[in-house]
Amino acid sequence: MLDVPNSADRTYADGKMLQSAADGVGVITFNNPDKRNAMSLEMWEGFGQALIALRDDPAVRVVILVGAGDKAFVSGADISQFEKTRHNAEAAEEYSRRSAAQRALLADYPKPIIACIQGFCLGGGMQLAMAADIRIAADNSQFGIPAAKLGIAYGYDGLNNLVSLVGPSWARLIMYTGMRIDSAEALRIGLVDRVVPDTELWDATMEIARTISGNAPLAVQAAKITIAQILKEPGARDMAAIKQIGTDCMDSEDFREGRRAFMEKRKPEFKGK
Ligand code: COA
Repeated sequence: MLDVPNSADRTYADGKMLQSAADGVGVITFNNPDKRNAMSLEMWEGFGQALIALRDDPAVRVVILVGAGDKAFVSGADISQFEKTRHNAEAAEEYSRRSAAQRALLADYPKPIIACIQGFCLGGGMQLAMAADIRIAADNSQFGIPAAKLGIAYGYDGLNNLVSLVGPSWARLIMYTGMRIDSAEALRIGLVDRVVPDTELWDATMEIARTISGNAPLAVQAAKITIAQILKEPGARDMAAIKQIGTDCMDSEDFREGRRAFMEKRKPEFKGK
């Protein structure tokens, strides 16, 4: 069982989304284990509110996404809502519009996001995991995008992330077949970054989160901004943003603190300015 903190600072979507924060680490929990954490529209909206709250909390330096229970990260969109919300192109357009704000929030999120994955990570769950900066998975996880089995198309963002992580050939195999792959295969093709035994997943994820939250926030942000720009088409890259964050780092109190701490052989205390 994943040892996720079960006390939440805030809840959304009738308790199906949980938000907490401690020691610089924010946690967002998909909390619908009876449905394998399938995402309803209300959960998507709650997810957006939790992202905003943690983004705007200056004490939070990194965010972990995790599924409640031991069976799933997120098993995709809640298919039981499809008959009402996604039954044709017009309804799907409205569904996309309501979830677009959350997808945009994720795409432009200023703090690192780590997906902590145990069990099923399917469809929209894969999209969420792929939109995170880093993916740590338990060895018993299963990944897949069964869109072809349901008859739905994936948009540009979802497939863009998939292609950039695993390449076009594996993206085709995954999309055309709707097959599920295990953690070992996911690691081999670059879909996840690290696989650990399920009993060690939470500690392994927290260790990475704490390391990030102890580092200089502006330097972490510089890496995040620069890597995001590298992934864009050359013409769409914001080189000025890369230059600006570089200047901010070099002029920061934290850079001075980092230099001094090294010379004084002590742990630096970074403030994010
Ligand atoms: N939407 C709505 N309900 C879902 C769901 C989803 N994406 N995934 C699971 N559930 C529900 C099931 O309907 C079931 O409900 P019930 O107890 O009322 O019958 C419950 O969660 C448990 O699922 P079950 O299939 O019995 O568990 P399992 O462990 O054998 O299998 C999955 C889990 C995730 C492999 C399987 O439920 C599944 O294939 N889900 C759909 C995944 C999918 O297609 N996602 C893409 C959506 S775009």
